[in-house]
Amino acid sequence: MKLNTDQIEYYREHGLLFIPEIFSIKEVEAMHTVVEDLIVKDTPGRILEKDKKTVRALHGCHTNTEIFDSLVRHPSLLLSACEILNSDVYVYQFKINFKAAFGGDLWPWHQDFVFWDKEDGMPSPKALSVTVFLDECNEFNGPMYFIPGSHKESLIHLGQIESSEVKDQKKDWKSNFRAALKYSLGKETIAKLAIEKGIVAPKGPSGSVLFFHPNLVHASAPNISPYDRRLLIISYNSINNIPSFKGQPRPEFLVSRDYTPLQPLFNKILV
Ligand code: SIN
Ligand code: MN
Repeated sequence: MKLNTDQIEYYREHGLLFIPEIFSIKEVEAMHTVVEDLIVKDTPGRILEKDKKTVRALHGCHTNTEIFDSLVRHPSLLLSACEILNSDVYVYQFKINFKAAFGGDLWPWHQDFVFWDKEDGMPSPKALSVTVFLDECNEFNGPMYFIPGSHKESLIHLGQIESSEVKDQKKDWKSNFRAALKYSLGKETIAKLAIEKGIVAPKGPSGSVLFFHPNLVHASAPNISPYDRRLLIISYNSINNIPSFKGQPRPEFLVSRDYTPLQPLFNKILV
């Protein structure tokens, strides 16, 4: 798959691009098998929900599983990222967000680049995230919400942290993955943006893919439905945009330090 000029133009204008059913049912099932194996392992990159039982996220699985190592090099994802960023790229972050049926918690409104700038010293938002739906995403199971066009507002966050839970947080990487997020956006900011630009929640079958900009404002609601909503998110960064990591860098399973430009795997498929 190669993105056409209309798709690239759409991404630049709205900050996101949804493409349904890039991966087949067989490919998604192969990913499920590996995820089911990973989820039971108590690894450092595994984050739990507030109940301390339900898995909220897994990080860095592209470094220890063949299928996700192939996925990050899949031409449909990798070449699209290179095309949009007009650059060679490497994997900056890889995560699977579970949002389990009857238990997956919310993600407050935020922009990803704030974290990448503040925590890692990423010089500019010359990066993007690609989301692969591992389950159907529907109106019930906590799809991601986006404010289209909000990526053009640049950084619109600081000084607006409202949650009292985050006030006393020490520099702890896990605090960036909990429901009380460190750099979340205030209600007034969201209300103003949403009135101006609206909110979209791309939905579709498993195997669908969504590209989004690091400055695009996004969130998701808790999952009270009986349907799991597993999303896999690969964040690609330009090899010309390496973070400076002033101070203590975050763990490598969270923020990769392998800056080798990724090469597409043309002959290898996932299954
Ligand atoms: C994120 O903002 O990185 C995740 C949002 C979600 O999984 O709903
Ligand atoms: Mn995010």
